[in-house]
Amino acid sequence: MNDLEKVRDWVRAARRIALLSGAGMSAESGVPTFRDAQTGLWAKFDPQQLATEAAFRAKPRLVWDWYAMRRELIARVDPNEGHLAVARFQAANPGRLTVITQNVDGLHQRAGSSGVLALHGNITEDQWLETPRSCCKVEAVEAGRPPSCAGCGNLRRPAVVWFGEMLPPDALARAEQAAAECELMLVVGTSGVVYPAAGLAYRAPGKVVIVNPEPTELDGAAHVVLRGRAAEVLPQLLS
Ligand code: APR
Repeated sequence: MNDLEKVRDWVRAARRIALLSGAGMSAESGVPTFRDAQTGLWAKFDPQQLATEAAFRAKPRLVWDWYAMRRELIARVDPNEGHLAVARFQAANPGRLTVITQNVDGLHQRAGSSGVLALHGNITEDQWLETPRSCCKVEAVEAGRPPSCAGCGNLRRPAVVWFGEMLPPDALARAEQAAAECELMLVVGTSGVVYPAAGLAYRAPGKVVIVNPEPTELDGAAHVVLRGRAAEVLPQLLS
């Protein structure tokens, strides 16, 4: 029995499955990953200049425009066969698979997945930079890059988790619970270098399986490593 067949058996046997996904999950949809040496966003852009609150305060237009560029790209792409296989499995097996994602692209949700725990936020949404005052009304924002409150100038910022920021506590707590209660964790398309998300793989009491064409920081935590692409491997595992 080869590794893929073995993991397929684990999928069938597991009452609770947690799927932890990263940028590689969306690579075949055309969304660039972060740390790929050539095509990764961080190979071309400095995360400290674009994905921190300090960077946004220092150069709000530069950061806003960069996220606007990524939003436009994400709006043009579609979920791939990997996202669709996960959503189909969830629909056919209610309550058995929890999706925990580091991705801000919303492609799991667009594929039809339910209860997605988005640990790093959602790039298609905005929030106020400062704690909103009574004048800060979303429906009355002043257009701009970024938009701002007409009353006090409070800026709108992308609703994503920037480096150095806390993850949404509710999503993180539910992700930790799903990891601790699963019999099988599928870790798909993440380099496993960003915490606390990567740490979830070490919380899984049962089998841990990695799906990734390249070596990752989490390979040591895995019972099986499937060297393949998400859109190819997940339909084979989850159908
Ligand atoms: N299928 C599966 N995995 C793939 C594919 C694919 N088609 N293509 C690339 N990968 C793998 C790469 O080998 C790499 O291990 O996806 C991983 C992407 O890693 P990163 O670019 O580091 O992305 P991720 O792990 O999601 O980053 C975590 O870091 O920059 C922050 O907040 C950002 O959520 C992000 C976090």
